[in-house]
Amino acid sequence: MTDKKYELTNLSSGKKSILEARSGTLGPDVLNIANVTRDHGVFTFDPGFMATAACESKITYIDGDEGVLLYRGYPVEQLAEKSNFLEVAYLLINGQLPSAAQLAEFVHAIQYHTMINESLLRFFNGFQYNAHPMAMLSGVVASMAAFYHDSTDIHNPRHREIFAHRIIAKIPTIAAAAYKHSTGQPFMYPRNDHDYCANLLNMFFSVPCENYQVDPVAAQALDLLFILHADHEQNASTSTVRLAGSTGTNPYAAISAGISALWGPAHGGANEAVLAMLEQIGTAENIPKFVAKAKDKNDNFKLMGFGHRVYKNRDPRATIIRAMCHKVLAKLGKSDNPLFELALRLEEVALKDEYFIERKLYPNVDFYSGIIYSAIKIPQSMFTVMFAIARTVGWVAHWQEMISDPGMKIGRPRQLYAGPERRDYAEMSNRG
Ligand code: CMC
Repeated sequence: MTDKKYELTNLSSGKKSILEARSGTLGPDVLNIANVTRDHGVFTFDPGFMATAACESKITYIDGDEGVLLYRGYPVEQLAEKSNFLEVAYLLINGQLPSAAQLAEFVHAIQYHTMINESLLRFFNGFQYNAHPMAMLSGVVASMAAFYHDSTDIHNPRHREIFAHRIIAKIPTIAAAAYKHSTGQPFMYPRNDHDYCANLLNMFFSVPCENYQVDPVAAQALDLLFILHADHEQNASTSTVRLAGSTGTNPYAAISAGISALWGPAHGGANEAVLAMLEQIGTAENIPKFVAKAKDKNDNFKLMGFGHRVYKNRDPRATIIRAMCHKVLAKLGKSDNPLFELALRLEEVALKDEYFIERKLYPNVDFYSGIIYSAIKIPQSMFTVMFAIARTVGWVAHWQEMISDPGMKIGRPRQLYAGPERRDYAEMSNRG
């Protein structure tokens, strides 16, 4: 890794300083701006972090221009084809693909931590039946610190490992409890003889009064979606987990902060919004009207599932999911899915439109994921919860990487202050 140097000159005073650029394994160099404040007394200004690398990381690499996504160096396409979600979780957290023995031990640790404390289950009775499941998820995950405080010493590597196993194992159980609460059905306990996704589907859709067989096509489709959603470097929710975690707070609180950040429609909430949008569009004849709305600066309607901060080319995850839609819908006997047909048509129209071409707006991961979730009967309000379950693995990997770095610092951005200058308190009688 060769270091390059840049010179920064204050054109008024002539004062110069040398900035070192660090090269990563892949991707653009980053400029170390530590000297800028020390030598020139100025901060840098980058709202939305458009040009700021907030940390060094070895986990995930994205080349947004080429549409490349690598987890620990492995192309996501290869992992989607050959791996499974828990192996990918091991890879993201530990940095290497596991041996057979390591994988078996990891899977066992996850499968045997799936139950949640019964008192935690009672929390759900306090929620409105129609509460959004993301509200329940973030609240209950934050509360986990009150139940599992025997392993929240963030400086103890074994505690961090136990936390990782617990959160990855229990988050589907919490999600299923949120779903069952919203339907009024009894909570179904986890089944340790099922794999990760089959267990999740069983907790969602089985009821005590009849037998339920998990559809292996649905479990496989879910596993693939989870691989594709598992990590995406310093996105808004991961950065939130890092920022919250950098204060030394317990990891459940940090993950809960990530869940809250994911909820927004510009981030994980987009998968729920895409289906709502497709339903609103209704038929292909209405597409031009909605594309025109998306282009209209006076209308805040956006084409949900389109555009990405980093990808200025096809999102490789969208390409995989689009192909998978064909296969999954055919296997489930729903190949004539009207919403999928509408999505394909909308993509075709948008990709030929000058507005979308100029701005390099392509379908992102969320454009097609909701169609698969619907096909396997996951209700729309639970889509973002599914994203959160998968992304928990990425959050854990990033939190672990940050906490185990001896040079970790609390995240504390600065600002360009634009408020009033210093002024004296005005007595009520003198306020105009
Ligand atoms: N529909 C219409 N116009 C759009 C869209 C869209 N979906 N996305 C971006 N634009 C326009 C935007 O108005 C702007 O136009 P102009 O240059 O004339 O002002 C230009 O494209 C650049 O967009 P931006 O808002 O500056 O881009 P950003 O990097 O700040 O935002 C984004 C990225 C994902 C928030 C945005 O594209 C968006 O809101 N998309 C819809 C929501 C969505 O699908 N989110 C899921 C993201 S992928 C999953 C995840 O990572 O969570």
